[in-house]
Amino acid sequence: MRPAGRMAGLRLSVIRAMNEGAPAGCVSLGLGEPSWDLPREARESLEAWAGPEGPCPYGPNAGIPELRAALADHLGVPDPGILVSAGSQGALFALVQAWAGPGDQVLLPDPGFLAYPTLARLAGAEPVPYPAAPDFSLDPGLFRAALEAAPRARLAIVNHPANPTGAGASRAALDEMYAACRDREVVLVSDEVYRELHLSERPAGLADAGVRPGAVVLGSLSKAFAAPGLRVGWAWGDSEVLAPARLVHNAMVSCLSRPAQAAAAALVGASDRILPRVRTQLAVRWEAFRSAARDHLGWDPPPPAGGFYAWLPLPPEARPDPGAFCLRVRDRGGVIVIPGSAFGPRGAAYARVSWAGSPADIVEGVRRLSGFWRDR
Ligand SMILES: Cc1ncc(COP(=O)(O)O)c(C=O)c1O
Repeated sequence: MRPAGRMAGLRLSVIRAMNEGAPAGCVSLGLGEPSWDLPREARESLEAWAGPEGPCPYGPNAGIPELRAALADHLGVPDPGILVSAGSQGALFALVQAWAGPGDQVLLPDPGFLAYPTLARLAGAEPVPYPAAPDFSLDPGLFRAALEAAPRARLAIVNHPANPTGAGASRAALDEMYAACRDREVVLVSDEVYRELHLSERPAGLADAGVRPGAVVLGSLSKAFAAPGLRVGWAWGDSEVLAPARLVHNAMVSCLSRPAQAAAAALVGASDRILPRVRTQLAVRWEAFRSAARDHLGWDPPPPAGGFYAWLPLPPEARPDPGAFCLRVRDRGGVIVIPGSAFGPRGAAYARVSWAGSPADIVEGVRRLSGFWRDR
């Protein structure tokens, strides 16, 4: 038996593989998920769900009305402009399937979230990486140049604050990238799932001044709402862009889990209370990470525009084979970090360090890194 041709080259993500093969007692600075408690608003909703007897029916394809209303209020957009999805990954999959196919090109960041090229290939399209500025922020000039060199581009993805680098984008840069896509009728997907996780001012968003034709923005419960296990995300923006993606999403999952949607509605509805609490958790972890990095690595990490990743330069001897180096760090040092090469060739001189874990794990993990990084 032989799986379909588009499966060629599809592997378990390096992030999952690094975590799943880890020896016992390893500290993980590898996963991008919050370690603090699920907000009580969601817990109470889940407990209430289990209460009364009765069926657990399918829901509407578009999502339960309470969640749609909570999102419309939170995002400040009318309901038809929102696609409720199985994580933001579900929206990404549906958007790429809906707007790119065999012979088309999809622009994506290098380094960038490793699902992007996989999703392009699964749609039969060609992933076309574009570079960032030297400080890893989004560079509209480099983006436009890559777009000009991609005559068959149908869709482009920007991610800010970025996974894996933590870098952001200025409002002017976002406007310029949007204009470049608009000129070519290329759909622009702005992945902003880390936007609410900021240490100082809130980073710019693509649609801050309102919905833009040809563009959509991604959000998620997984990061700022500390609920990755609920698997609820959303895309919002131009309803013409969302309409075919909605059909793909219906074909994928029919509808989301009802208990998860009810909990999502409770979380989104309480965002004014929850997001400040979450940012307090983030600040505690950032302080733990920054002081451990200074003490154990002699490195003063730059604060991210948002999110909980540090982009740590590799020691020179790691550079010929970053993957093998990070495996040594894991198996001999007992700590997981992700080789930057997993995020694209332009990430090869770095490792991604997640400081989303508990403060104790962050400090212990960074201490374990010191033997591999210090005095080299
Ligand atoms: C940049 C980015 N976008 C999207 C996702 C998908 O997240 P989820 O499907 O949990 O919303 C992730 C997950 O790590 C991510 O880092």
